Amino acid sequence: MTGEPKMQKVKEKPKSELGGVVVLDFGGQYTQLIARRIREQQVFSAILPCTASLEEIKQYEPAGIVLSGGPSSVYDADAPKCDPKVLALGIPVLGICYGMQWITHTLGGKVERAERREYGRAHLKVACGSGSEGSHLFMGVPESLRIWNSHGDHVLALPAGFRATGHTENAIAAVEDPKRQIYAVQFHVEVNHTERGTELLRNFLFRVCKAEPKWSGAAFIEETTEALRAKVGHKRAICGLSGGVDSTVAAVLVHRAMGNRLTNIFVNTGMLRKNEFEQTLEMLRDRLKLHVIGVDASDRFLAQLKGVIDPEEKRRRIGREFIAVFAEEAQKLQGGEARGEIGYLVQGTLYPDVIESVSVKGPSATIKTHHNVGGLPEKMPFELIEPLRDLFKDEVRRIGRDLELPDEILVKHPFPGPGLAVRLLGEITREHLVTLQEADAIVVEEIRWAGFYEKVWQAFAVLLPVRSVGVMGDGRTYGLTVAVRVVESHDAMTADWVKLPSEVLERISTRIVNEVPGVTRVVYDISSKPPSTIEWE
Ligand code: XMP
Repeated sequence: MTGEPKMQKVKEKPKSELGGVVVLDFGGQYTQLIARRIREQQVFSAILPCTASLEEIKQYEPAGIVLSGGPSSVYDADAPKCDPKVLALGIPVLGICYGMQWITHTLGGKVERAERREYGRAHLKVACGSGSEGSHLFMGVPESLRIWNSHGDHVLALPAGFRATGHTENAIAAVEDPKRQIYAVQFHVEVNHTERGTELLRNFLFRVCKAEPKWSGAAFIEETTEALRAKVGHKRAICGLSGGVDSTVAAVLVHRAMGNRLTNIFVNTGMLRKNEFEQTLEMLRDRLKLHVIGVDASDRFLAQLKGVIDPEEKRRRIGREFIAVFAEEAQKLQGGEARGEIGYLVQGTLYPDVIESVSVKGPSATIKTHHNVGGLPEKMPFELIEPLRDLFKDEVRRIGRDLELPDEILVKHPFPGPGLAVRLLGEITREHLVTLQEADAIVVEEIRWAGFYEKVWQAFAVLLPVRSVGVMGDGRTYGLTVAVRVVESHDAMTADWVKLPSEVLERISTRIVNEVPGVTRVVYDISSKPPSTIEWE
């Protein structure tokens, strides 16, 4: 395999993604919510950074563009900006909050710096009537609405061609230039606190943009398959499968388009859960009929981790070894069976992975480089196929359901790339890995049995290199400690420890001490995130 050129993205969009809405992100806390609300109306939406080029935007052939809110003032030296030409593409635009201020400022109106932020509930008076003579945006909604505000600056004077369509007690709250199809609101239509917010959004989508409500899981699957088929020709593809929901859904989608010209590589790092390698391999091959090469590289990984205690060093070495194994397998395939050149690398990247790696103001030190986006073999001469790149996790689960993936994949708890290595504190040995796998299997079994598995975000065991004294039968024991971690979360950004019934905790503790040799003590982790993280390392 050669070192260059770098991977490029496959650009063909499924038809249901065309004619949707592009949301340009100014760094607002509700940007993801805007995208979701639009998709809830069966209209596709993709979020792009506000710095996206006109070319990138036009790729989606959007029926509309939404400019999000954001924390900045248009007067800040580093205020985020779009290309002003987005306002002249002839595509309807809806500005929300900062989006409205940016439109006003850019088109020659006046925005005033506010002394203090206006935050919370307010009342909107619709100024133009909501009948057919009025604003398309406010059609069919009452003339007085409760709305949700969160803004600093406000609009003082309108650009030429604009009219005000709504006011709060303090400020102009909605403006529009129907001729140019530019609409803007100072408040957040996407949050539930705004009364009739969904109707306002629907008015924009269906009355102004004339978007078609054609985005659904089934349409997405059909069109993604079709677009991939047209794109890939006779080339082959490889995919690094982990058995988690994202990579499996991506692989099954691409498999529909390419059949066995897609080869999946599933690496046993030795850091997987008890029996996970064998069981996942069997399911991928026998139930999902995927073409999978299972590589047991556990010895290599263990050798790399010998003597390593520092968690970040563990992560680095595992990442490096993973890439090496993957690259070797790809190389074997490339030079092996004469079934055509490998042209593509499939990844289950999701939208949150992308956004964590891209920032409105360019690369930022505080944003982590995600495993999928930043980690895999960048220099491989393959084009990237990322069919889930615009979706959120629950949407991927829905698509997985439409693809009839087994529940055990769809509801599977997230598992970190470095696996048990970050749940086994201190040096990793084969013996301690087995101890942890056994304890972890008991935690998961009992959590399932008690009906909690699908209600919680993650449930697992952590092995601590802390020895304590115990007593078993008549003898003294001196063994290790297992910590049990069970958390609830929506997105892993914050998490609460779960108040499990004491009977469940008791069963977990009794079974671990009795059934796992070398463990004398079990503790329950009662820390939430923040300030603690979900994983211990
Ligand atoms: P933390 O520990 O940061 O974890 O609260 C948040 C979520 O991310 C998972 N996690 C990882 N996933 N590589 C991954 O692919 C990693 O290095 C990694 N570290 C944590 C963790 O399981 C939780 O769901």
